[in-house]
Amino acid sequence: MKVEVSRLYTELEGESLRGAVAVVIDVLRASTTVVKALARGAMAVVPVAEIAEALDERRRLAERGVRALLAGERGGVRPEGFDLGNSPVEMSRADVAGSTVVLTTTNGTRALRRCAEASRVLVGCFANGPALAGFLGQVREERAVLVCSGQDGRVADEDVLFAGYLSRELRRSGAKLDASAREAQKAYASAEQGLERALGATPHGRTLLELGFAADIAAAAVIGSEMIIPEMIGNGIIAAGKGRAC
Ligand code: MLT
Repeated sequence: MKVEVSRLYTELEGESLRGAVAVVIDVLRASTTVVKALARGAMAVVPVAEIAEALDERRRLAERGVRALLAGERGGVRPEGFDLGNSPVEMSRADVAGSTVVLTTTNGTRALRRCAEASRVLVGCFANGPALAGFLGQVREERAVLVCSGQDGRVADEDVLFAGYLSRELRRSGAKLDASAREAQKAYASAEQGLERALGATPHGRTLLELGFAADIAAAAVIGSEMIIPEMIGNGIIAAGKGRAC
């Protein structure tokens, strides 16, 4: 397998994901929240770009008798009327088992939707990193593109750090890294010994600390806390191998 890193999803060109497996990364915090929701027993997570879309989606699901919860953030905090924020810690404690979580975030859910042309779309973060590295070793695609969500149109260092971690793990099992993946790997090597501190020192990490979300940063820095491999199937994300849910 050949591994590439896209440091910012908005810079992906035309059909550059065609035939590849894409791993969408938003360590702080959407991809970590998705992993936690599925690990907690949510049937699916439906990513949508806008709050209005989230409200429509919940209505549509309720009409079909599906228990749907609204989760997400604007400016880092839970929008009014939503059941949950975009917090991995809150998600780990929430009663989401059996429900569908409709999630809207500023960057992560948009990056997910941008990757639709890839032959498979997975979601990655440190929480499911080791499981994801093992899973990628078994897919039939010969190209993996690690797609960083970024923050408000800028590269987010925390996403590049995870892309570097995953690149290193894939290289260890025989994958070939291109220059972008080698560069990310170097960035991870320099942060590895103090990962939580490194995540908290990024611009978005500092914002989250100011908003009182230190526990989310700590949770996002734990490598391998979950075995879940979220995969986008249709318009929903489910745990890989569970079939079509939405
Ligand atoms: C995003 O999608 O922009 C982030 O997940 C924001 C956040 O930390 O809530």
